[in-house]
Amino acid sequence: MSDDSITSILKEDRVFNPTAEFSSDAHVKSLKEYKKIYKKSIEHPEKFWAEKAKQLHWFKKWHTILRNDHGFFKWFEGGELNISYNCLDRHVNAGKGNKLALIWEAEDGEVKRYTYSELLAEVCKFSNVLKGHGLKRGDRVCIYMPMVPELAIAMLACARIGAIHSIVFGGFSSDSLKDRIDDCEAKLVITADGTFRAGKIIPLKVNVDLAIKKNKSVEKVVVVKRCKNKVTMKKKRDLWWHDEISKDNIEDTCPAESMHSEDSLFILYTSGTTGKPKGVLHTQAGYLLYVYQTFKWVFDAKDNDVYWCTADIGWITGHSYIVYGPLANSSTTLMFEGVPTYPSPDRFWKIVEKHKVSVFYTAPTAVRALMRLGDEWPKKCNLKSLRLLGTVGEPINPEAWIWYHKIIGKEKCPIVDTWWQTETGGIMITPLPGATPTKPGSATLPFPGIVPAILKEDGSEAKANEGGNLVIKKPWPGMLRTVWGDPQRYKETYFGKYEHIYLAGDSARYDRDGYFWVMGRNDDVIKVSGHRIGTAEVESHLVSYKDVAEAAVVPIPHKIKGWSIYAFVTLKKGTKGTEKTRKNIVAHVAKEMGHIAKPERIQFTDFLPKTRSGKIMRRILKAIAEGKKDVGNTTTLADPSVVPRLIKGRIK
Ligand code: WT7
Repeated sequence: MSDDSITSILKEDRVFNPTAEFSSDAHVKSLKEYKKIYKKSIEHPEKFWAEKAKQLHWFKKWHTILRNDHGFFKWFEGGELNISYNCLDRHVNAGKGNKLALIWEAEDGEVKRYTYSELLAEVCKFSNVLKGHGLKRGDRVCIYMPMVPELAIAMLACARIGAIHSIVFGGFSSDSLKDRIDDCEAKLVITADGTFRAGKIIPLKVNVDLAIKKNKSVEKVVVVKRCKNKVTMKKKRDLWWHDEISKDNIEDTCPAESMHSEDSLFILYTSGTTGKPKGVLHTQAGYLLYVYQTFKWVFDAKDNDVYWCTADIGWITGHSYIVYGPLANSSTTLMFEGVPTYPSPDRFWKIVEKHKVSVFYTAPTAVRALMRLGDEWPKKCNLKSLRLLGTVGEPINPEAWIWYHKIIGKEKCPIVDTWWQTETGGIMITPLPGATPTKPGSATLPFPGIVPAILKEDGSEAKANEGGNLVIKKPWPGMLRTVWGDPQRYKETYFGKYEHIYLAGDSARYDRDGYFWVMGRNDDVIKVSGHRIGTAEVESHLVSYKDVAEAAVVPIPHKIKGWSIYAFVTLKKGTKGTEKTRKNIVAHVAKEMGHIAKPERIQFTDFLPKTRSGKIMRRILKAIAEGKKDVGNTTTLADPSVVPRLIKGRIK
């Protein structure tokens, strides 16, 4: 987001009410009703959640709703359930076996559809494959796959047998994949021969081969045939998915393991302040309950909805709101393999038209990119089926919000701007579409049961519009339980600043109506196109390039991506900062970390602004990269004269 849009957000005071038509039919019908539910939910949170939990299928009921075990929260202890059972068997048993569970559209336009009964059968078959290879409760399975149905099937199969999945976004490099496989000591990896991206084939299996070259934990690799490109299959280790599920002894039924509420469900790695990504751990019952209830109310789930979330399942959005949330609500969820603009700029809108999508959830960066392509593309398509729109991942600038509202929503669809994080498991601050008047750029009010606040550095509460650290004051069922293998890091990162209070890492303010406005990250994380990139991680990949001596990375505003990466790089003696060097460095980062981490601009410099103790002052670099004339106080610098020289060398 640019400074201009921050200023415009501060001035933004337009209010949009849900239409009477939408409200009358919604799960929560008015602001008054929301306020009543909210009040009760925070006065008696345990009662509130226990009430909601009754809607799930339990093999065994819980005895304790919530317990704080030395700073580690436990929900529904004593209870046993299975997520795959709740997402599939429960609906089939209730007579919904023939309802569509999953619609998949491939990049080339091919469509596959699975009813709840069919999806259950596929999940059971793959569960049996996993069991056949010795996978059992608690084992880790790494999934590195394109957006194909087998990805959802693999997740649900892991959940069914109690294995812990760790999905790695297919855009990550072999190096990033290696770190993640090693950290959780995965026993099995599921991948594909490759994936399509805007017509090109991207090899995935090759990355897996590289990632596990020296690895000792991985016993088997299951490969989905997607692109028919050549791969090398290592004897005894590598197996084709299609061979495995079509073996004679593979049955299409498989009992679901009875999992304890607090057994691990999945690990998902995300970036933080230090270089090493954190393995965010979510567990069974609380996560399921939270995505179930948030999906139902935020997306106002209706039996005949076709719901489409455009995220990749490799991120938390896909976990919670392509797979688990919609399926737990017996909704029809659409999964798309491709990109918004291939083969033409109306690809998204054509999908909405073709499948009669009624609820559409995407990222502000996609809205901005599509807005720029012109109104003619959506206008050519019939978008009448849409009734509700959503955004996630970063703040949405009012201009994009209004375009989304007018051109896509035809001024009748409410927009839910949902604030949450990998760590929160599900949506935390959001409008309820039939109840909450919306203001463009604000995620509005907390979901029932959630108690956010804005705290100042000293721990006191900020006043309206004052701004500060966004925190959550009470535990909620969908919260992360720990950082895989590093409980200390969990405590320090999330509960280290304020006692017993969850620190989100965002700065935000609330206005006089109590509406929350998230301004952005206040740790060393950059949101590039809504993806979370750790600056320390990028810096370490920059300095691993042979010619680089030192590097510092800062965010700069970007019209489409929201933010992009600006790198200050000091080269080793004897190397010149030529265009070729720049290109090589960018390619190196893409190879080492993944294309989403590529620096947008690189400024070569012989000096970085450092304090007398040698600390790089990123605050000053950020101001320089943004083109600010006034870079703030420079008196603590060892050599303040570097500042004007850096300003002169700025890359525009
Ligand atoms: C960070 C979390 C939540 C799933 C996708 C991202 C930013 C997220 C919003 C929003 C303003 C937002 C925050 C947050 N963010 N949603 N509606 N308005 N900012 O998950 O990768 O864990 O990133 O995304 O900065 O901390 P994530």
